[in-house]
Parts: sequence; structure tokens; C-alpha cells
Amino acid sequence: PAIADLASLVRQSSCAVAFTGAGLSTESGIPDFRSPSGLWTKNKPIPFDAFVADRAVRNEAWRRKFVMDESFRNALPGRGHRVLAAMAAAGHLTGIITQNIDNLHQDSGVGDQHLVELHGNGSYATCLECRHRYELDWVRARYEAAGNVAPDCSACGGPVKSATISFGQAMPEAEMRRALDWSLTSDLFLAIGSSLVVHPAAGLPVAARRNGAKLVIINREPTPLDEIADLVISADIGDVLSRLADSLDLP
Ligand code: OAD
Ligand code: ZN
Repeated sequence: PAIADLASLVRQSSCAVAFTGAGLSTESGIPDFRSPSGLWTKNKPIPFDAFVADRAVRNEAWRRKFVMDESFRNALPGRGHRVLAAMAAAGHLTGIITQNIDNLHQDSGVGDQHLVELHGNGSYATCLECRHRYELDWVRARYEAAGNVAPDCSACGGPVKSATISFGQAMPEAEMRRALDWSLTSDLFLAIGSSLVVHPAAGLPVAARRNGAKLVIINREPTPLDEIADLVISADIGDVLSRLADSLDLP
């Protein structure tokens, strides 16, 4: 019944937005953050200021990143990613706003015109001073050659960091503006696989709802926004979205 309700909301909508979190990618073998096996359940996140201030912290951040990268490198889009890509292609979505950094929306064929990455992208690195781009293989080779020491930018000497947003780091402005614009003009907001506790990202469903959008939450655990949602589906995302795709006759 919930799937039929979801399908009819999607059919009635003319400017829906999907907002995705780490729960979308667990099917692809990438851990989320706040589940029992989540990254932040195991390790405390490294704040941005500490990363910038201290090379020992940068060394640890890169050590963790290279461990995590083993699961990232081989990850393929899951059923959820494929259904969202098909929905965007079929005109069911204005766009996808993601908090994920795993590049799996792009890998499932979603183009830039349909995608906002709110928390950056973990498949490459940049210099925090001059923005020069570095590939992870370059960083890793330098790190290992130096005896597990984080490399500095070869152009300007600045700290080199994964191109993701850490706690305490400024949000990317253009991305935030586009995400807010899509949210405020949406008539249906689908929050998928997020605990909805990290701000400002989690402010988007609230803003959309306040501006008249219907809010649907698909997540296997409760979220603080369940009480303002029009529909909450507590089930596996891959299952829910596959069944939605069937109802909508998507490929
Ligand atoms: P969380 O780990 O906080 O939440 C993921 C949610 O997905 C959890 O509530 C899980 O129960 C749910 N979930 C996992 N697998 C699922 C599945 N197969 N089906 C249904 N539900 C499933 O991840 P996010 O909300 O994305 O930010 O975290 C938000 C931000 O916090 C991240 O972008 C990251 C983190 O700190 C930064 O790094 C800046
Ligand atoms: Zn630099």
C-alpha cells in the first residue's frame, strides 16, 4: 500500500526532488555513518580545523581514507541508484541532491544537470589553498614514499585534502544555493537513506515542506523529521525503489 501511495505522489508531481544519504549506498558495500557498523560509530570524525592545523591529524585522516577507499573503489551503483537515474531520465525528478561522496549517482548515469553534491566528492583531492586537483593515487604514492606522511601541494605547499566537506568546513556555496532552489520550488521531496540529523543539509526537507512540498521519508530507522512527513516508509531502500520503478513502468 505504501508503494502505491508513493507511486501516485510521484505521478502527481511535476517538480520532485530526491535527497539522498549514506543509506542509499549500503547495498553497494559502502558503510553509512550512524548505523551500528557505521563510520562514526567506529571512529570520531576529524574536524576541519584540526586537519588544517596539525600534520599528525592529516596523516591519520589519510590513513583512514585509504582504508575506506578499498570499499569505494570497487563499489557499483545499487538498485536505488539505478531507479533514481531512471526517474531523472524519465522526467520524474528535477534533480538529486546528495550528501554522499561516493560518486555512485554519476556512475549510474546521472548528469551534472540533475545532480548536486552537497558534501563534495571523495574520489579525488584538492589543495585547500590553491584548489589544485590531485588524484588519490598521487596522494597515496607520496604518502607511502614519505613513510605515511600526508603530502603538501607541490604548487603552493598548502594542505591536500579529500574533496569532501568535513565538520567545521564551509558548505560549497553554489551547490547549497542550487539545492535550496530545487527544494523550495519542489512539490514532492523524497528523503532517502539519511538519518536527517546533519545541518544545513537536513534543513532542506524542512524548507521544502514549509514551502508546500509533500515530504516522503524512506529509511529503515526513524528520523527526527518523521513527524512532519506526509509518508514514512521504513523498509529497505533497494526493495522500495525497485517496487516503485515497477509501478511507474520504468526500465
Ligand atoms: P547516516 O549514517 O547518518 O544515516 C543513514 C541512514 O540510512 C540510517 O538511518 C540507516 O538506518 C539508513 N539505512 C542504511 N542502509 C539502509 C537500507 N538499505 N535501507 C533503508 N535504510 C537504510 O548517513 P547520512 O544521513 O547520509 O557528512 O549522514 C549525513 C552526513 O553525516 C554525511 O553526509 C556525512 C556524515 O557526517 C559529512 O561527512 C560532512
Ligand atoms: Zn596549492
